[in-house]
Amino acid sequence: MKRNPIIAALDVPTAGQALELAAQIASCVGAFKVGSELFTSAGPDIVRRLRDLGARVFLDLKFHDIPNTVARAVAAAVRLDVQMLTVHTSGGFEMLRAAEESAHRAAQELGRDAPLVLGVTVLTSADANTLAEIGCDPSPARQVERLAQLAVRAGLRGLVCSPLEIVALRQLLPDGVQLVVPGIRTGSESPDDQKRTLTPREALEAGADWLVIGRPIYAAPDPRAAAERILAALD
Ligand code: C5P
Repeated sequence: MKRNPIIAALDVPTAGQALELAAQIASCVGAFKVGSELFTSAGPDIVRRLRDLGARVFLDLKFHDIPNTVARAVAAAVRLDVQMLTVHTSGGFEMLRAAEESAHRAAQELGRDAPLVLGVTVLTSADANTLAEIGCDPSPARQVERLAQLAVRAGLRGLVCSPLEIVALRQLLPDGVQLVVPGIRTGSESPDDQKRTLTPREALEAGADWLVIGRPIYAAPDPRAAAERILAALD
């Protein structure tokens, strides 16, 4: 059976809301994303409860700290049994390598597969001004490419990228690097803060491996029907 590429972002504030949503859509998505809001309010137990539903979990806390601290946070995520997690590539080579090595070491100790450590390059909310403010190359495209290559050199096997970066990164990166792509819109929902979007099918055709979908599912009047429609449109 083909893998379901939909990662539903559970961007809700409480464990109760997250579990209710998860139970509705579990059979039509490939994974659940737990971000900073939900994790901070509900704690690690929300990850255990989602895993109890038999679902993959993507822990999107975008670690960025000294290598030792990131390595220990990654090991803690492995013990929680997450299948994907994020780190900021701007943390540098040593930090990225420490994260990847820790994922493998901790997984091996527990006899499970290492989670995919995904590098976040330039946030889609950042523009040339933001990059200049922090002393980086003001071209978002060049900064994305530089950080993506750094991540792969450090051993990362996946990256988060915007829909409009997929084609350039596919040309630049070795085969097999997994691209996880937010900013997905079906065209039927109301406009919001995502400015550069593709439809689910367009993103897969451009080379995405996983699609992170938040509001088009959780803010729909019937989240399960919305997820089913998105999945059906991928075939
Ligand atoms: O609601 P929406 O589909 O826009 O949600 C997208 C999800 O992906 C959110 O959880 C958001 O934090 C995350 N994300 C993003 N853009 C990035 C990185 C992550 O929208 N560049």
